[in-house]
Amino acid sequence: MTQPTRKDEVAADAPVSEDATLTFIGRIETPWPRREDCPRRGRLDGPECTLIVDPPWDRALEGIEGFEGLDILYWLHQSRRDLLIQNPAHADRVRGTFALRSPIRPNPIGLSRVRLVRRAGNRLVVRGLDCVDGTPLLDIKPETCPAAGA
Ligand SMILES: C[S@@+](CC[C@H](N)C(=O)[O-])C[C@H]1O[C@@H](n2cnc3c(N)ncnc32)[C@H](O)[C@@H]1O
Repeated sequence: MTQPTRKDEVAADAPVSEDATLTFIGRIETPWPRREDCPRRGRLDGPECTLIVDPPWDRALEGIEGFEGLDILYWLHQSRRDLLIQNPAHADRVRGTFALRSPIRPNPIGLSRVRLVRRAGNRLVVRGLDCVDGTPLLDIKPETCPAAGA
């Protein structure tokens, strides 16, 4: 929709870009070099993986040690992004992309609830991931808010 303009202003007659302009805050080290090596869904008793948070975002880890559960968002960078209906190898029938947790989606964002094992500076060792080694890291959120006053 065209936005109203003030006196003497001129607006382009083109749609505003809807790109989200994501920032990769780091990367994820995992034991799996290829997609086909990864578990279909991470498990809290799975192998240790490491989130490496690059500067300046490592400063934003302050206080993270107080949480056991973290939600990790990552960019499934090797995915195609064009399928509406999919026929996953493990499924009994085809399904729409939004009825699946498949990595193939218009915005290939992966989401996993992980357990924080330990922090070493800008590195968080966690269990519960399912992504290829080197997958770009988008965000880290604690499972719950810290207790009031904490
Ligand atoms: C089914 S997805 C689930 C991802 C996340 N747990 C979720 O629910 O959003 C996990 C699968 O994505 C694939 N995968 C992992 N890392 C990927 C990457 N960087 N690019 C594309 N596909 C990836 C692997 O086949 C893995 O088994």
